[in-house]
Amino acid sequence: MENKTLVVYFAQRGNDIKGHCPKIAAKAADCLRKKGIEAETFAITPAETYPEDFNEMEMAVKAELASHARPELTSKHSGMKLVKDIVLVVPNWWNALPPAVNTFLDGYDFNEKRIIPIVSHGGDGGKDIECELRKLLPKTRVMPVVEISDKDTDDCDEKVARAIDELLTNN
Ligand SMILES: Cc1cc2nc3c(=O)[nH]c(=O)nc-3n(C[C@H](O)[C@H](O)[C@H](O)COP(=O)(O)O)c2cc1C
Repeated sequence: MENKTLVVYFAQRGNDIKGHCPKIAAKAADCLRKKGIEAETFAITPAETYPEDFNEMEMAVKAELASHARPELTSKHSGMKLVKDIVLVVPNWWNALPPAVNTFLDGYDFNEKRIIPIVSHGGDGGKDIECELRKLLPKTRVMPVVEISDKDTDDCDEKVARAIDELLTNN
């Protein structure tokens, strides 16, 4: 069947159910399910794990961002051609996408698809990331960003539901 909906999220350490993005993605998939849409989920996870120490991690990420690195991912999605709508849940990393998300975006043809970005952040929102996505994917319909602050992750069901409604009503 074509025109599938896919929930894609950044998971720094694979099955990281504690991360904000995995939690928000689970809420989005649940919300879609309640509306009768069985959406598959897909995690964007770098093959090489970042250091546990935050300062070391920060240095590694900054080096990647400066060199426009495209770190290898743990897996590739095999059915992207059948996907029409993508709920993309990503963190704000210095007002940019994590490099691994760029690897994901480089890996498929997103022309004619729709992306609804949900940005999980620590206070800076996600407007820069919406702009970055529009620049990277000029032929993709990038919907207005949904911003979820870390302190609201556990209570964001209504916000996520509104975003899904937007996706479903604006075909
Ligand atoms: C490397 C790094 C850089 C970050 N930079 C920012 C930032 O510039 N602005 C902001 O609001 N939050 C920033 N944050 C906070 C994250 O966006 C936020 O905690 C997010 O919810 C993390 O999602 P996760 O738990 O799924 O990884 C940063 C976090 C990390 C790890």
